[in-house]
Amino acid sequence: LPEHQAEHRARIAIIGGTGLYKLPEAVVLSRLDIPTPFGPPSSPVTIARLTAPAGTSGDDGGTGADGDRDGGPVVAFLSRHGRGHSVAPQQINYRANLWALKSLGVEAVISSAAVGGLVSSHGTGTFAVPDQVLDKTWGRADTFYDGSLPTGVQHLPAAEPYSAPLRAALIAALEHRSEDFAGAGTVAVINGPRFSTKAESAALVKSGAQLISMTQYPEPMLAAELNMHFAALAFITDADTGHDGSEPVTAELVLGRLAAAQPRILAVLSDAVRTVSAGLGGAEPADDGGTWRMVPMPPGA
Ligand code: ADE
Repeated sequence: LPEHQAEHRARIAIIGGTGLYKLPEAVVLSRLDIPTPFGPPSSPVTIARLTAPAGTSGDDGGTGADGDRDGGPVVAFLSRHGRGHSVAPQQINYRANLWALKSLGVEAVISSAAVGGLVSSHGTGTFAVPDQVLDKTWGRADTFYDGSLPTGVQHLPAAEPYSAPLRAALIAALEHRSEDFAGAGTVAVINGPRFSTKAESAALVKSGAQLISMTQYPEPMLAAELNMHFAALAFITDADTGHDGSEPVTAELVLGRLAAAQPRILAVLSDAVRTVSAGLGGAEPADDGGTWRMVPMPPGA
């Protein structure tokens, strides 16, 4: 690790989706511009310490002083669309984003995402923790193993694209917060930036999808290639083209509903980060208990 990064290691990262551009309940330790072999990530990475929950011993009043072992866990935060939503979904440099997080020592990535619900079991205003991906994107740089790195070309399994233990942490957090959620779901990923037609939406349902997103591919695959746990906290902002009789989705509708739900989303994220942090324990990186295959780290990561 370069020196400036070594002093700001973070073992857990949050990728903030639409509507989540920073973590309000955290003390910022540093903001890092991290170069990668793929160019810059979507935003600087913020290293922050979650504030200790009210009433816990060792609460330092929110100063987040270094060495405060009773404060909350340290997280790396990266805004997927950049500050002010300046990067379109199909133009996001996913490889740079995941590489930058890996370079900080991150072992687990929680990806927050606004998604559409395609069926009534995944209703507007509720959460979901997807377990499968149906990729309908095209032209995205979706692997570190395309032959451009010394690690060469590899054909990797992708049967279980999300980390089971990380999904369990998200589900526990949703239960703890008494949220209404679906503990599984197949997320279809469209290229965007436009939303779907009714015919496209219906075809995705026929293909087995319950959720729709523009960004849940290739994030999970790239995280796995870099040996990081990855799971998504999906907040369902809309019923896509209106399977429940509602108006078809618009960007304004997504943003408005996300803004209203932000305190709920942050509460679940911070609970999940605490659970994962406790699970990682100790000074040594935890042995990976995930269902994913483990591949060697590309040199220089
Ligand atoms: N993100 C939020 N809602 C969506 C939808 N209906 N389709 C694609 N991406 C979305």
